[in-house]
Amino acid sequence: MALVDRTGQQVPSVVFHTRVGDSWKDVSTDDLFKGKKVVVFSLPGAFTPTCSSTHLPRYNELAKAFKENGVDSILCVSVNDTFVMNAWAADEESDNIIMVPDGNAEFTEGMGMLVDKDSLGFGKRSWRYSMLVNDGKIEKMFIEPEKEGDPFEVSDADTMLKYIAPNWKAQESVAIFTKPGCQFCAQAKAALDAKGLAYEEIVLGKDASIVSVRAITGKATAPQVFIGGKYIGGSEDLEAYLAKN
Ligand code: BEZ
Repeated sequence: MALVDRTGQQVPSVVFHTRVGDSWKDVSTDDLFKGKKVVVFSLPGAFTPTCSSTHLPRYNELAKAFKENGVDSILCVSVNDTFVMNAWAADEESDNIIMVPDGNAEFTEGMGMLVDKDSLGFGKRSWRYSMLVNDGKIEKMFIEPEKEGDPFEVSDADTMLKYIAPNWKAQESVAIFTKPGCQFCAQAKAALDAKGLAYEEIVLGKDASIVSVRAITGKATAPQVFIGGKYIGGSEDLEAYLAKN
């Protein structure tokens, strides 16, 4: 394996065959890159563990921050067909990411990133990497080190965003347990919105039950808010916390 950094070169010229609803739609690299600032991350396979738990979700989560820092779109490339990529996107709810099904591996081969994963029964797949592309020209690449297995050290979303915006600081993660129709929950979400804090909402009766709330907080009411590994409490506790922080 000899992976080459292609910084300064143009991305390969390829047409991808994508499925939109019941129709086929060809999408060219010109469509994807021309006149745009684009972040690409490429990975070994849809539905695989690291790709699904971390690589794709974090790019999706940070899409707004990428946008605020001048990135027009974020592409996820994998040597998979369009049906698999579409199903994976739906499963992951990764609405902020454009899935690029490189089923024929032409783009990945053109990038020099096509590697053998025969030992896993995968055939030829993409090595993990990310790149920043401006109007089709590669400005920066983060290529995972050539180690055994599936290293995931540098092609992550945080590394790319820090490269693009060195002063950017990750927001602490916020999670809120809510109950449908709960007025205090709406108030707590509004308080987080007013501070510009993104959050993950765990809706009781849908994503979890009150058993989880009792087990984690010792309380049986909603909302319950957690920020950066700390238990904050209900809506009044949250307002007091936000007033101080
Ligand atoms: C993973 O994402 O964890 C993975 C990718 C390729 C092969 C095996 C695992």
